[in-house]
Amino acid sequence: MTIGIIAAMAEELEILLNDLKLIEKREKANMTFHKGTLYGKDVVAVVCGIGKVNSAICTQILASEYNVDKVINVGVAGGIGKEIYPGDIVVAENLVQHDMDTTAFGDKMGQIPRLDTFDFKCDKEMVAIAKKACEQISELNSFTGRIASGDQFVANIEKIQWLEKEFGAISCEMEGASIAQVCYLNSIPFVVIRSISDNANNGAHMDYQKFVPIAVKNSTKILKQMLELM
Ligand code: ADE
Repeated sequence: MTIGIIAAMAEELEILLNDLKLIEKREKANMTFHKGTLYGKDVVAVVCGIGKVNSAICTQILASEYNVDKVINVGVAGGIGKEIYPGDIVVAENLVQHDMDTTAFGDKMGQIPRLDTFDFKCDKEMVAIAKKACEQISELNSFTGRIASGDQFVANIEKIQWLEKEFGAISCEMEGASIAQVCYLNSIPFVVIRSISDNANNGAHMDYQKFVPIAVKNSTKILKQMLELM
């Protein structure tokens, strides 16, 4: 079994790459695919770049060229709601693309036209393992629910209120739902695990700078524990 591990930014994968026993490194589509073993598991780890297009290209390469059996997306995210704080963990149950809008044709906001699903559901078994990993690292607060992805760094209170009301999202980021869509189209089980770097409100970019290191540390901790449980 080979697990594809995707992070959007180099700093989100740095700790893991230091632990990876590298077998082969290959460049494709401006991304470096690191094949090796990580905590005893066969993996291909890659930094995909920010946004839905980069992450979709990356996931399709993992599917077509590396035949990965499962995909895990890790990294940081904006938290939605008063109860969620920087450093907390979000395990996605399902994901939607909040910037997909064909409401002019009568579709629901977020619906990808002519696709037979509204949201992209994470693999139940992988979610259960991720939740178990969270329980075992008891100093971390964790939440399970919907992540909304879009090509936008959300730093606006009205926007997060809208994401909460429209989608019931507990977190927002910029890649998870496109990775999820590619996994869905290729029938690959996947899960998205993020740690909160900011509350997606006005001034989120300031919190983001401050909290990314701790968020990265926490999401990496969960992934490590998860790989050990898999
Ligand atoms: N990733 C981390 N914080 C985010 C935010 N506020 N919006 C979108 N993606 C993010």
